[in-house]
Amino acid sequence: MSEADKIRVMIVDDVIDTRDQLEKLLFFEKDIEVVAKASNGREAIAFARQYRPQVILMDINMPDMDGIAATEAILTQDPGIQVIIMSVQGETDYIRRAMLAGAREFLIKPISADDLYRSIRHVAKLAAMRPVVAVAGGAAAGAATDGKPSVDGQIFAVFSPKGGVGVSSIAANLAIAIRQQTNKKVALVDGNVIFGDLSVILNLRADKTIVDVAARIEGLDRDLLNDVMATHPTQVKVLLAPPDPQRGEMVTADHIRAILEVLRQEYDYVVVDTPASFQDRSLAALDMAQRIVTLMTLEMHCIRNVKLFLEVADLLSYPSEKVMLVLNKATNRTGIRADEVEKHLQRKLALQIGDAAQDMTLAINQGAPIVMAKPNHQVAKDIMNLARELVAKASKEATAESGAKSRSLFGGLIPRR
Ligand SMILES: Nc1ncnc2c1ncn2[C@@H]1O[C@H](COP(=O)(O)OP(=O)(O)OP(=O)(O)O)[C@@H](O)[C@H]1O
Ligand SMILES: [Mg+2]
Repeated sequence: MSEADKIRVMIVDDVIDTRDQLEKLLFFEKDIEVVAKASNGREAIAFARQYRPQVILMDINMPDMDGIAATEAILTQDPGIQVIIMSVQGETDYIRRAMLAGAREFLIKPISADDLYRSIRHVAKLAAMRPVVAVAGGAAAGAATDGKPSVDGQIFAVFSPKGGVGVSSIAANLAIAIRQQTNKKVALVDGNVIFGDLSVILNLRADKTIVDVAARIEGLDRDLLNDVMATHPTQVKVLLAPPDPQRGEMVTADHIRAILEVLRQEYDYVVVDTPASFQDRSLAALDMAQRIVTLMTLEMHCIRNVKLFLEVADLLSYPSEKVMLVLNKATNRTGIRADEVEKHLQRKLALQIGDAAQDMTLAINQGAPIVMAKPNHQVAKDIMNLARELVAKASKEATAESGAKSRSLFGGLIPRR
């Protein structure tokens, strides 16, 4: 590999041992070259100008100028640089501040060699794919998709920035509801490659899983997916997660991206059960989705995380209509009202799904999601409404888009007066 093809990396950390360890780890990687090492934020800014790295490994806590301030300054200078933040702490506040500053990835110390290589190669690839958007007001590079569908199929990511609010249950029910309403081709993907539970929720055997696709990613096509996906009795096709967490680790964000691309060409609707994190696998699904069904409950810590997610969504240049806020387990017994939440978030809730109490779990334990087991239950009806709303919005957008296309064609044919 020639010098020019290597990924140019700068290491920024105030601890000399950490800098040296990272450099050693990178030394034998043929496609990576460490071009500079800096010991604080100020030095990092100067070296970034001088050595022109493509990727910066940036520590957060440093004397003089910290990693977040340095990231902000460097990206204002050169928005094309990809910053990977390294931190000993995994708190959302650090993640939020680093994201707002424009960082692309996070590594929690101690950093494994594999994670390090994967992150560097991943962000370098992102840099090559993503058109660079100016860092106005601290905004980072925009997604190549910019939330716009490029092909026919619609991807709906069901997501929550807080775990346990019902993402997997709603994703499974939603996929079935869409299938029942439209009779079109519907796929459901378990994006929780580490702790996926759609096989339990839908009572399906995980003989083959997303790991089998990742292992044969070069041969990825509809036949491979057909071979691996399980078929639910409703004819929803399900790409399951492996039963053992270790095997899930081999599925990368790039795999998720490639899989979703093929699925959206094959299916009319693709529902993704997206993990509750801002790590790159989740972001891959969120980037590619036409709509993010963002679930929340009436609990303080969930509301706080949703507020943070809305900021991140903004930062990623997601159009506001891409993020659809949905209240799950809605009840008036938590001491917080839905209208208060709307006021606090300055966003309207698109829909509310009631609290089914034990009925949701009962349905799961019996292997039939609530939309099938109890279609007359209020919560089943709420999920049906969600499906209807998503499908209606998707077809309205498709009509508007084809209208715009034919108008521009027609416009081209009319002679100017
Ligand atoms: N509308 C609802 N009413 C009552 N219970 C619900 C509702 N939605 C989900 N649940 C219950 O909440 C619990 C968590 O649901 P689920 O596993 O789907 O959440 P999750 O967000 O996917 O969690 P994780 O972050 O662990 O993946 C389950 O017991 C489920 O039955
Ligand atoms: Mg889940």
